[in-house]
Amino acid sequence: MKNLGWKGSTSGFSAYSTAEEVTTYKRNLTGLTDIVTGFVVPLIHFIVCCLQLLMRMHNLNDIRTQERQRSAGVEPARVLAVRNMDAGRNVKEAIPKESPNAKIDVMELDLSSMASCLGVLGAISKVKRGATASSEDGTAYEFIIRISRMWFFGRKGPSGFSASSTAEEVTQGIDGIGLTAIVTGASSGIGAETTRVLALRGVHVVMAVRNLDAGRNVKEAILKEIPSAQIDVMELDLSSMESVRKFASEYTSSGLPLNILINNAGALSSPSKLSQDNIEPLFATNHIGHFLLTNMLLEIMKKTVQNSKQEGRIINVSSVGHRIVSREGVCFDKIYDEASWFSYGQSKLANILHANELARRLKEGGEEITANSLHPGAIHTNLLRHQGFVNALFSLFGKYMTKNVQQGAATTCYVALHPQVKGISGKYFMDSNIAEPSSQAKDAELAKKLWDFSLSITEKK
Ligand SMILES: NC(=O)c1ccc[n+]([C@@H]2O[C@H](COP(=O)([O-])OP(=O)(O)OC[C@H]3O[C@@H](n4cnc5c(N)ncnc54)[C@H](OP(=O)(O)O)[C@@H]3O)[C@@H](O)[C@H]2O)c1
Repeated sequence: MKNLGWKGSTSGFSAYSTAEEVTTYKRNLTGLTDIVTGFVVPLIHFIVCCLQLLMRMHNLNDIRTQERQRSAGVEPARVLAVRNMDAGRNVKEAIPKESPNAKIDVMELDLSSMASCLGVLGAISKVKRGATASSEDGTAYEFIIRISRMWFFGRKGPSGFSASSTAEEVTQGIDGIGLTAIVTGASSGIGAETTRVLALRGVHVVMAVRNLDAGRNVKEAILKEIPSAQIDVMELDLSSMESVRKFASEYTSSGLPLNILINNAGALSSPSKLSQDNIEPLFATNHIGHFLLTNMLLEIMKKTVQNSKQEGRIINVSSVGHRIVSREGVCFDKIYDEASWFSYGQSKLANILHANELARRLKEGGEEITANSLHPGAIHTNLLRHQGFVNALFSLFGKYMTKNVQQGAATTCYVALHPQVKGISGKYFMDSNIAEPSSQAKDAELAKKLWDFSLSITEKK
């Protein structure tokens, strides 16, 4: 049987390797807290695994700190999450015999009970950044703090910015005076912060919003902070082509120039089954509305480029969710059906394909206007308002595991204003750096097909 213990080529371990053997190698877990679970309910197990994976990734990035801790004699802290507290305490007592410096804690966790899981997760969520929490024998455990600090997202990309950069940081020192931008969905979340930071840099921002009162409230709040901000609020409901046409014609008659168009508005779910134009509501709002809006404003953008001699920029706020789609990517034959599981991903894939095909056409036409798309990161905003359970999870853990809205607006503001992005078109950005979207998002044929399809829907009959 020993002959069957072939070693795998990547890890160097085999079926006969023991737990001690596989952990005495380079992998140094000093400073990490392990959660040891004995019974698995798929959802909770998944969350725990994600936490462990994130901690491990952070740990691998943090070798030097670990080395320092090791030389200072600091041992890993472990939380034994067990159903049977007595059995857990017995294990806890046995471990120090072999490893006297080990920090071990026991917490009750019954994974077959949602209440028990939420209790443990709730206790964890109370631990504030920089603080510690104590369990039954006073042992401090710090793993959630490590996660909150971990911003392994904090690794800088070629632009010099990272996932933890804020919109103010990525636009530091940039002068936006003389530029005019439209931001759709500016009444909350990423759009509101994008508006604030563009205005801070001197850009005249037109907030294109569905809810005028909410838009005016955001404008007032920004004016309190930045009295010199130039902000207008205009009504736009992207789920209705009539509203988009009205907005575009009012904007054209206003005589305002347009340097930057930020197609930011988005919905993750919709209370109505079909849009006002009888289209699947997420495709209608997230893609078709922006497709029509962009086409209707393109002439103003071209004129602005001629007059200002400055490059125009179009930015589609997509999502990493563009990967969650059917095999075809865009189900053209189901666009007049109700929303399905893939609808959000499909609409976000459409945002990228739209930007890519637009970029190709603008280049072909010799226009000095770029079109790019981006994923802003995971941010706890109103986007999740109709997603009860996920919204609750984000409320509990969002502050530790996701970006805040200042970080969430960074990539948009970077692509809109930063000189590094000059001349770059048809790219997908993430964390203020160029990133790789899915292979479907790079499919030029699919982008052309979507363009023709969208044109056929939006052309006035
Ligand atoms: N938050 C994230 O984790 C995340 C991740 C990936 C991508 N994104 C993308 O980021 C963008 C901004 O989202 P957010 O997180 O800032 O969410 P948010 O706070 O809900 O903001 C979305 C904005 O879009 C507006 N909107 C929705 N439907 C509209 C319509 N039919 N017509 C006009 N405006 C409409 C909303 O207006 P109302 O307030 O009136 O509804 C709101 O102002 C979206 O495109 C989203 O897909 C977000």
